[in-house]
Amino acid sequence: MEQQLRDDFIELFGQGNQPRAFFAPGRVNLIGEHTDYNGGHVFPCALSVGTYAIARKREDNIIKLYSKNFPDQGIVELNLNDLSYQEAHDWANYPKGVLHVLKQNGLNVEGGFEVLYFGNIPNGAGLSSSASIELATSVVLNGLFNLDVSMIDMVKFSQKAENEYIGVSCGIMDQFAIGLGKQDHAILLDCETLKYEYSPVKLENATLVIANTNKRRGLADSKYNERRSECERALAELKTVLKITSLGDLTIEQFEENKNVISSDVDRVRAEHAVYENVRTKLAVHKLNQGDISGFGELMNESHKSLRDLYEVTGSELDALVQSAWEEEGVIGARMTGAGFGGCTVNIVENSAITRFIESVGQKYQEKTGLKADFYIVEIGNGAGELKL
Ligand code: GLA
Repeated sequence: MEQQLRDDFIELFGQGNQPRAFFAPGRVNLIGEHTDYNGGHVFPCALSVGTYAIARKREDNIIKLYSKNFPDQGIVELNLNDLSYQEAHDWANYPKGVLHVLKQNGLNVEGGFEVLYFGNIPNGAGLSSSASIELATSVVLNGLFNLDVSMIDMVKFSQKAENEYIGVSCGIMDQFAIGLGKQDHAILLDCETLKYEYSPVKLENATLVIANTNKRRGLADSKYNERRSECERALAELKTVLKITSLGDLTIEQFEENKNVISSDVDRVRAEHAVYENVRTKLAVHKLNQGDISGFGELMNESHKSLRDLYEVTGSELDALVQSAWEEEGVIGARMTGAGFGGCTVNIVENSAITRFIESVGQKYQEKTGLKADFYIVEIGNGAGELKL
């Protein structure tokens, strides 16, 4: 793959210095959904699929960006001194956003460069292809220009690019999982303090399977920002009676005792999800660490129900796909993953049941929705970095 991309690079940008190769994965979240921007816990892992970026410096101030995934866009060319957001630059606004934030933070990207990107994450599936491009760009720039930025800062800069340059108020989960992922492990991250721990994902005789609804979802125009505001309002009201900084600070008992200060019924159930999901995530990780895989799976199911009934971010496609999985023998747990409103589900399936699972769930899903689902066996990979030949 890498050699092919290097050849493509030379064909596209011409001979010269040898380019360097970088990679950033996609991510899947196992549990802890819509908790990150509420100061709670998440439990994602990096995937073995992601974004490759082949890159080298130029002698001038020109930046050339090309993606094999968007060949119709051709080479997007710009000048280091004009990093303004441009609609026409489409996907290339993601790398531009990262560069913009790095420069804003005083990091010296001192000249132009050229990059060829190739991503093998299904696009728009909610497996964080955009955060993957951001982190791939961060590691490219850090590597080419010896910026000496730590991975955690690259994670924060990438999130900032998404928040301020792209205009999506996402939390830190995606960029964190992509930056700090570790092969065969998931990360329990406290999004308030950024303290984290790795847990080996050992599922004995079962495997993680991602199922794609193939219902495309756009974060920016979805109800994501609305959910954030609902939770912020609930927090503001809770703060009038409790000394807390985020919903993630609350125990279930504290929430139950004080929830009536939240005046809107809708805001109250959104907060209820955030609080219970946070507690559920910590418990789920504890169970996994103890080898209680079915306990972990049950909490995944609870998580989906809460996202469906309280947070209302699932929608008919995700519900159909999860419901079909729940009806299948050999399924230990199933839930939506990511922002919701389409995208993917994540399932723990006994190895002996996988073939039947894919066939039967695929068929039921198609009957219910008219859409064809795709299935991927998850391989948990490492975080972003340079690929050494
Ligand atoms: C998206 C966001 C994340 C997180 C999830 C929901 O993936 O980018 O920050 O909020 O949705 O858990």
